Amino acid sequence: VEDALLDGPLRGKHILVTSGPTHEPIDPVRYIANRSSGAQGTAIAQALAGLGARVTFVSGPADHPMPEGVDVVRVETAAQMLAAVEQGLPADAAVFAAAVADWRVASASDSKIKKDGSGALPVLEFAENPDILATVSQKVEGRPALVVGFAAETDDVINHATAKRQRKGCDWIVANDVSPETGIMGGSENAVTLIHNDGSESWPRMGKQAVADRLAAKISEVIGG
Ligand code: CTP
Ligand code: CA
Repeated sequence: VEDALLDGPLRGKHILVTSGPTHEPIDPVRYIANRSSGAQGTAIAQALAGLGARVTFVSGPADHPMPEGVDVVRVETAAQMLAAVEQGLPADAAVFAAAVADWRVASASDSKIKKDGSGALPVLEFAENPDILATVSQKVEGRPALVVGFAAETDDVINHATAKRQRKGCDWIVANDVSPETGIMGGSENAVTLIHNDGSESWPRMGKQAVADRLAAKISEVIGG
């Protein structure tokens, strides 16, 4: 029988994809998180697998069904996501589509925080989470040949994303405008600008799977056989 997954321009390549939100516990019943459906990351993993890549899909807790034909690693927190990514290396390329929580609660409580009846408010102390994209981008040894980040912004999108690309050291940034009026957040479409070393290209608004297919094709142009 023909096995489509063993063929295609990315055959023999290993690609890491992060996706979904992370959940950072406050106590056993509460957490803080980013908004992320996991739809775009899932579509990217699916598209890469469709081109023959072996995909390791590191996903935070997303409602979205997991992509098929990929190795799924489920995590909860940013710290766990970083550990899973490190474990997943080496890779020929890595795509960081996850909406990682920037901060975790410094010391999450082992027991449920209770209202004490006095109206006193809890005070949460935060600690900054590791930057997974920057960590992998700046690796001296074992850096994937192509590292792709995302930048969801609400204003001055291209400038913020261009600065982000330089600061983190990734090769490409997929930038998009997630202002409420665009309706992108939580929707089935995306309008992105791909920013690279020598400029940028804006793609028309299209379905998230179409964005994923186009990105996978571009990745294949760079690392494919
Ligand atoms: N990212 C990551 N680890 C983090 C934060 C972000 O890997 N702790 C990745 C995301 O997956 C995305 C890229 O970095 O690919 C940009 O994320 P974003 O939240 O836009 O960047 P930040 O540096 O956190 O900046 P901001 O203050 O705008 O949130
Ligand atoms: Ca962030």
